[in-house]
Amino acid sequence: MSPLAWSRERLGVGVPSIDDIHREFVALLNVVATASDEKLPALLAELYDHTRAHFAHEHALMVKYRFPAIIEHQAEHGRVLAELEDLQERVAQGRTAPARAYVRDQLPEWFALHATTRDSALAAHIRHAQGGRRGESAPTGTTERAPL
Ligand SMILES: [Fe+2]
Ligand SMILES: [Fe+2]
Repeated sequence: MSPLAWSRERLGVGVPSIDDIHREFVALLNVVATASDEKLPALLAELYDHTRAHFAHEHALMVKYRFPAIIEHQAEHGRVLAELEDLQERVAQGRTAPARAYVRDQLPEWFALHATTRDSALAAHIRHAQGGRRGESAPTGTTERAPL
């Protein structure tokens, strides 16, 4: 896959905080993809930290806005973090080829699909919630209706 370029038309989801993180992610991914062997471990660690923060931000939004598909979305995030952890271990052992293939091909492909499906669905849910009730406050939890 050629280097991934962030564009609003192609990858924008319409929630500024998510789009900002995604733009940073794509920029960092491209730096890691062309890193020297010497710089690869530190840049991979930076990508891992950024990705953790990225996913934590989305998780907080999913909780705040009661996003229904949180389990599936989190499962994908968890898988990617586990893959990045595994690749960091391999790089520490001197095996850089799997990490290079991952950041050049698999991760850009996964991200483009994830951003345009799962993250877009989350963003649409947030925009809908924000349009529906501004300054939302959490219900107290005693709102279930008695059966008729
Ligand atoms: Fe995301
Ligand atoms: Fe996501």
